[in-house]
Amino acid sequence: MPDHDDGPGPRRLLPLLDSARGGRSAMTCRYRCADACAHEPPNTSDNAYFGDVVEAAVSRRGLLRGGAAAAAVVVGSGAASTLAAGTLAAASEDSAAATRPPSQPRPDHPGGPEYGRPVGFRPVGDNTVDAVVVPNGYDWSVTIAWGEPVLRGAPEFDFDHQTAAAQREQFGYNCDFVAVYPLDRRFDRALLWVNHEYTNEELMFRGWTGAAGATVEQLRIAMAAHGGSIVEIERAGDTGEWRPAGGSRRHNRRIHTGTRFRVTGPAAGSPLLRTSADPAGTTVLGMLNNCAGGTTPWGTVLTGEENVNQYFGASAPVTDPTVAARYARYGIRTTAGTERAWERADPRFDVAREPNEPNRFGWVCQIDPYDPRSTPQKLTALGRFKHEGATTALTADGRVAVYMGDDERFEYVYKFVSSGRFRTGGSTRDRRHNLALLEDGDLYVARFTGDSPPAEIDGSGRLPSDGLFDGTGQWLPLVVGGESTIDGMSVEEVLVLTRLAADRAGATKMDRPEDVEPHPVTGTVFMALTNNDRRTPAQADEANPRATNRWGHVLALDEDGGDAAALAFTWSLVLVAGDPDDPSTYYAGFDKSQVSMISCPDNVAFDPSGRLWLATDGMPASVGVNDGMFVLPLDGDDAGHLRRFASVPVGAECCGPCITPDGRTALIAVQHPGEEDGATPDNPASTFPYGDQPRPSVVTVWRTSPTGGPFIGD
Ligand code: FEO
Ligand code: CA
Ligand code: CA
Ligand code: CA
Repeated sequence: MPDHDDGPGPRRLLPLLDSARGGRSAMTCRYRCADACAHEPPNTSDNAYFGDVVEAAVSRRGLLRGGAAAAAVVVGSGAASTLAAGTLAAASEDSAAATRPPSQPRPDHPGGPEYGRPVGFRPVGDNTVDAVVVPNGYDWSVTIAWGEPVLRGAPEFDFDHQTAAAQREQFGYNCDFVAVYPLDRRFDRALLWVNHEYTNEELMFRGWTGAAGATVEQLRIAMAAHGGSIVEIERAGDTGEWRPAGGSRRHNRRIHTGTRFRVTGPAAGSPLLRTSADPAGTTVLGMLNNCAGGTTPWGTVLTGEENVNQYFGASAPVTDPTVAARYARYGIRTTAGTERAWERADPRFDVAREPNEPNRFGWVCQIDPYDPRSTPQKLTALGRFKHEGATTALTADGRVAVYMGDDERFEYVYKFVSSGRFRTGGSTRDRRHNLALLEDGDLYVARFTGDSPPAEIDGSGRLPSDGLFDGTGQWLPLVVGGESTIDGMSVEEVLVLTRLAADRAGATKMDRPEDVEPHPVTGTVFMALTNNDRRTPAQADEANPRATNRWGHVLALDEDGGDAAALAFTWSLVLVAGDPDDPSTYYAGFDKSQVSMISCPDNVAFDPSGRLWLATDGMPASVGVNDGMFVLPLDGDDAGHLRRFASVPVGAECCGPCITPDGRTALIAVQHPGEEDGATPDNPASTFPYGDQPRPSVVTVWRTSPTGGPFIGD
């Protein structure tokens, strides 16, 4: 099968699917989110679907804003992004195992000489090839796949004789967020971080008949395959290829359900977090369903726990109405039963026995990749919900803002702003200070208001008369200055039961907020709203303008004054996804006959050239389109000219993506290849990457031809 593509083929019309699942397989729904789409959305609050109409006119804006406001952000956000690569981070000096990363900024940082380069590749066409497909002039290879050894001495992968003990030392299952942290100034060696979001047991075990029939060892293998991996990687000669490094691999680490986490922030020790195994409420074993993430200016990983509800069974119905209501708001089972049956392997996953255990998941976690002996943290100050990503920007006064989405239909977008300021020094004291920055700060949730008359937003996706879905917004306080702003809720309750607090604050119900990421130079915050099949025409608003939104959209948010600490913002939709021939779609005003089709944008990333990259989870394979990675130019005549850069194998979701800080390679996570209804190890829908059972993997893409330029996307 070809794994290059020199141009788009004929485009196929997207079907009007009746299924609540959109383009996903039943397996995807069961294992990813416990059939969430089959249930009513858990947000039953009476929050408005659109805010009050603001009469103030908001002028039609370019996608990138010029002038003083944007310039004011360059220093802060640019610095944050540069540092996010770990180049100025310094690991703890008092840990023998810790590494001090390179101390000089990389030469090709955002805003550097390559900023604003044009897109030069010919887009990959619609396809169902069971491989990674990249444009001519590029090549790719598998960097690491499920089961490959991570820790020294780990056994080689043996599909038919897998054990939990082996899995705890091997690369985990489904791969989502990807980040790299340089280990040297030449950027020839680096640390690779990968989230392992969830497991597909039906593809991991022959003869799988469901969780009820699983052996306890199989359950433990699945538990061990969750979490994350840190892998030392190195360049393969002068190519762009990354491969696992030889040598000591002393940074290599597996985070799994047995890894000890320290609970930080205002909710640490809360009665809501105490269990029989942890009466202090300060230590949690494991992290679950880590989806997207982000990096910090001090070189750590932020990783978000998403659909954690699916891991908890109930041996008896939940009868306490207060507890049941809280569970229901988070989709946690309140009737007797189980989805994954993990409570058979570990009783803490039975809410009848440990009613607070679910409260210990659903957080943003911080992990220091440079110190393999560091204790990962759960950051309660950032709130508890179905976290997607957590991406950072520096405020004008040097504090740290974290943007976050809660990925479920009709959920919200959040922002955290630290109390303390980021220190740029590399001393041990500075690093300790920075590592604690996300333990204390203010938490907000977003309300979006349209500027067009509500009558012009009819759910069809038709642009209003001002030609733009746009408006203003406010960050509504939940916790400020260490105090709760929600009547009747303590700070601990706001942070542990953040969805309930946001309901009361009056936040705007969005179409599944996935990744939320600020542009590293302009500070404009881009968020992927992946889809929402349940929104009705009456519930359409200018920020979520389509009823039965199966294809998703992308929103750009500009903080007032260009300051990430602002409490007000303007916003506009830059992309309303779907078949370009569908009149409800919008590609930033670009000629839709020239764009690649995109559906269900999920992950968001930027390259050093300031180009926006989108990865999808829900291209309709049923009509011949695999998921993939797209570039969306943001300014100039090319703004809105969306092009597919890569596609991933059959049944896979495209995750990451990570453009390395030098701009020369892209790392893509191939999540759940072969996840198709009826597929089994003996009847796989995909044989990616090695021709036998499908294995979630991280692949590297690099340029082989200098035509156009040396960078990904040129
Ligand atoms: Fe795990 Fe929201 O995607
Ligand atoms: Ca408008
Ligand atoms: Ca995602
Ligand atoms: Ca997804």
